Amino acid sequence: MSRGWTKTDWRAKPRIQMPDYPEAAAVEAVEAQLAKYPPLVFAGEARKLKAALAEAAEGRAFLLQGGDCAESFAEFSADNIRDTFRVLLQMAVVLTYGAKVPVVKIGRMAGQFAKPRSAPTEVINGMELPSYRGDIINGFDPSPESRIPDPRRMLQAYTQAAASLNLLRAFSTGGFADIHRVHSWTLGFCEQDKAERYRDISNRISDALDFMSAAGVNGSTSHDLATVDFYTSHEALLLEYEEALCRIDSITGQPIAGSGHMIWIGDRTRQIDGAHVEFCRGVLNPIGLKCGPSTTVEDLKVLMAKLNPQNEAGRLTLIARFGAGKVGEHLPRLIKAVREEGAKVTWCCDPMHGNTIKAASGYKTRPFDSVLREVREFFAIHKAEGTIPGGVHFEMTGQDVTECTGGLRAVTDEDLSNRYHTACDPRLNASQSLELAFLVAEELTTMREAGRRVAL
Ligand code: PEP
Ligand code: CO
Repeated sequence: MSRGWTKTDWRAKPRIQMPDYPEAAAVEAVEAQLAKYPPLVFAGEARKLKAALAEAAEGRAFLLQGGDCAESFAEFSADNIRDTFRVLLQMAVVLTYGAKVPVVKIGRMAGQFAKPRSAPTEVINGMELPSYRGDIINGFDPSPESRIPDPRRMLQAYTQAAASLNLLRAFSTGGFADIHRVHSWTLGFCEQDKAERYRDISNRISDALDFMSAAGVNGSTSHDLATVDFYTSHEALLLEYEEALCRIDSITGQPIAGSGHMIWIGDRTRQIDGAHVEFCRGVLNPIGLKCGPSTTVEDLKVLMAKLNPQNEAGRLTLIARFGAGKVGEHLPRLIKAVREEGAKVTWCCDPMHGNTIKAASGYKTRPFDSVLREVREFFAIHKAEGTIPGGVHFEMTGQDVTECTGGLRAVTDEDLSNRYHTACDPRLNASQSLELAFLVAEELTTMREAGRRVAL
């Protein structure tokens, strides 16, 4: 990407939100070990994703990115991976049906372990402790010992990421994701209403498949229908881990972050001269950049130039996360900056991180209505500006958790304690995720129909 860049350059830059490991020698030993391990992803895949994101930027595809806020060692299981993958497939079916364009599927999976925190310490049961920073860094357990950063956790994270990715690849190409099985993904639905809407779409898809088969249209397309492209992503926060997994693409000679297909820069670590931007600018992967209310037009312009100097389509996804009621204040000024620079970006909406509140019960939660409202505002602003809403980014799980309030089967403040399992931020449960997919699909359908009217 950038001439003269090396994977260690970030070390000379100011770093924040990263641990101070007590023993430098132990960190070096882990880095040396990881550097010998195979990368988790390959350059050809990252390039393919970039091409797909370029399509999303133009409205010819739509991005669906979702998964845990923080993956954890304790919750790691085949069932959890399968359930989240299945909900993402269900959502993708609903969105494809609404948008009538391919849905680019990216999990916050197989590497989403490190967390930025709003304060260096937190008080738990009256005890002040170093903040939990994700399982790749320290332990969730509220004890002083478990909160000491331990570099060996990077090895466990790598192993878990490799095993997760192995299963995801098997699900994607081994038959589970075959569109002919669209009906079987309904397993696990409890509510009639959503199950029926989903079944209706599944029936129409089955009809179309039957028709195609009867008309002899399968052959070359049958492989495409039987498999999906599924990609992984995470916040590139722990740069020791990212650097150790950085490799050189043998075809182009360019560096690639081998830790996941797409990496993103968080809202707290996007300083123009900081370590995180320095690392990300040099790798060929598609890069996400979280844009919050404090993102200035000046900074955005510098970041776009640094992260995408060739103005390559699909390279940069701007993930807007302002909070419901604030999109109108911030998105237009950033869209204007993009326009002034002639920059190619894919616009994505993260309606989660600007909508976190503390419930009366003390739990961190997100009201479903705020999440939905931010998505609607995102679409409305793009419509007004004549720009393309390219995708959505959710914190969600396939499990029936009670972490976000609201939704059709309303989770109340009092319910939060029932199944509050997240290691960090509150996630949409399977039912809320699907409900949101239906609502986004409606927005996409309206947009498509309006576009068709204009074309006529
Ligand atoms: C996240 O995506 O988990 C996150 C911390 O987001 P942000 O950087 O937008 O706050
Ligand atoms: Co989060």
